[in-house]
Amino acid sequence: MDTHEKGFFTEENSVEVVIGRNANARDERLKEVIAVITRKLHEAVKEIEPTQEEWFKAIMFLTDTGHLCNEWRQEFILLSDVLGVSMLVDAINNRKPSGASESTVLGPFHVADAPELPMGANICLDQKGEDMVIHGRILDTEGRPIANAVLDVWQANDEGLYDVQQKGIQPDFNLRGVFRTGEDGRYWFRAVKPKFYPIPDDGTVGKLLGDLGRHPYRPAHLHFILKADGFETLTTHIFDPHDPYINSDAVFGVKESLLADFRRVDDQNRARELEFSGWFWEVEYDFVLARPQPR
Ligand code: BEZ
Ligand code: FE
Repeated sequence: MDTHEKGFFTEENSVEVVIGRNANARDERLKEVIAVITRKLHEAVKEIEPTQEEWFKAIMFLTDTGHLCNEWRQEFILLSDVLGVSMLVDAINNRKPSGASESTVLGPFHVADAPELPMGANICLDQKGEDMVIHGRILDTEGRPIANAVLDVWQANDEGLYDVQQKGIQPDFNLRGVFRTGEDGRYWFRAVKPKFYPIPDDGTVGKLLGDLGRHPYRPAHLHFILKADGFETLTTHIFDPHDPYINSDAVFGVKESLLADFRRVDDQNRARELEFSGWFWEVEYDFVLARPQPR
């Protein structure tokens, strides 16, 4: 018997037999990953003791999930999102020094080629929704402004829909924009207050959420990717703390440090300066970027 052969498969020695068979793997990392997955998976199967029907149902769930994936839809990422795995991988890969802004999930609605806009531009191109101004600074962990930082923002509209979900209804690049800071590290732009929305829930993941007694909603948020030379790229959101789903985000993306104050402002003079017609929302939020971390 070769050293990697541990005898015939039994319920008791299943893990050793399967892991032993991979002894000559060409890739050490792959070998380690498969060993861990084998251990955890066999442990789960031994605890669950599925019937043949239940196991087939699980296989069909994964098969159907795969069939839903195409150029625009990635049902496996959604599955990873609702199981908390996306946020766990994000946390492991984005451990930040104290004081740096925290990251959260990217989500499927980022568009790579959004237009670069002058500071102060209104990213709402269809005049729909409640006016909002957002401003703040992009800082390093010592509180110094970062010049030439690039802020890429995207958000859903007042009905909870992104432009890419309503092609031909919303203008292209509605509620998206790229801004570049000057020496003072400040940014500001105008938008509309976003609304909560469901993650795509017409597939296997939506059905799973329903069967688990869970809703598919994400609380209202704005997405950001912040980049600056010499700093780690930050992918994050800011959230409305008064949103009805703030404590039950379907994808676990909310962090306390990402709650922003959405203030209702009734000030005619400021509204006129901002070219708003009446009251508006104001959000002030500073982002702090970290230097690259040793791993
Ligand atoms: C989003 O916020 O755009 C999002 C994140 C995860 C899954 C679906 C949508
Ligand atoms: Fe989103």
